[in-house]
Amino acid sequence: MALDIQNLTKYYKTTLAVDEVSISVADGEIVGLLGPNGAGKTTIMRCVTGIVQATHGEILVDGLSLRKREQDVKRRLAFVPEVPNPYEMLTVVEHLRFAAMAYDTEPIFDSRHEELLRRFELHDRRNDLVLSLSKGMKQKLAIICAFMHDAKVLLFDEPLIGIDPKGVRELKDMIVEARANGCAILIGTHMLDTAERLCDRIVILRQGRKIAEGDLDDLQERAKMGEDATLEDVFLTLTEVDTADEGPGVPSA
Ligand SMILES: Nc1ncnc2c1ncn2[C@@H]1O[C@H](COP(=O)(O)OP(=O)(O)O)[C@@H](O)[C@H]1O
Ligand SMILES: [Mg+2]
Repeated sequence: MALDIQNLTKYYKTTLAVDEVSISVADGEIVGLLGPNGAGKTTIMRCVTGIVQATHGEILVDGLSLRKREQDVKRRLAFVPEVPNPYEMLTVVEHLRFAAMAYDTEPIFDSRHEELLRRFELHDRRNDLVLSLSKGMKQKLAIICAFMHDAKVLLFDEPLIGIDPKGVRELKDMIVEARANGCAILIGTHMLDTAERLCDRIVILRQGRKIAEGDLDDLQERAKMGEDATLEDVFLTLTEVDTADEGPGVPSA
């Protein structure tokens, strides 16, 4: 498994945000991380990227432990956060160069950043200050940063919010290309129709616990729904009914 999240638990002071969640993503697999607001999606991604520290549990990337091999793990990761926080006083190209410095991407920098800026239609803004970009453009910049190095594991937290249709198409294409190149991809999203089309497997969270996992067939079965049910149908059923007495979401506290 390229990404192996084992029994991850995260408390913020006394708030239990993630409760014994295990998720693995294989090479060449796209997994969708779904769940209502507050279900723990962002917290899981922040634990994987080391932005916040897990309370307990283990995170492995290519078999390397985040706890023991933090630098090696981080080099293999790319993360697009829900709310990008770029360096506003750099130009677009300076920002990309700064972000790329951490990853030894010097040899590919020129061709890679040119191509990505063109794909996301930011090329004519490359010498402008990040400060002057619109919100959607900043989101695109964060996406470009994620693709500047050849990450093994890509994490996207609500990546499609705020970017224009052409940007959405490019990002989807790039995610599919990354899968073909053997990357493991975890996408947190509320866009269920996109998740249904793009993801090989879905993990559904509710109140910090994993309540269902699988492809659409598995989820339909789990929700006791027929094969006509969409991902939206099964999602709403699984996250609204009380499933505490079934399956992997058994209370552990
Ligand atoms: N920095 C924080 N401090 C305290 N509680 C937090 C913090 N971040 C998230 N939480 C809480 O953790 C839970 C999970 O939040 P989050 O991971 O952001 O969920 P999601 O991304 O699925 O909407 C929520 O109850 C949220 O209020
Ligand atoms: Mg979130």
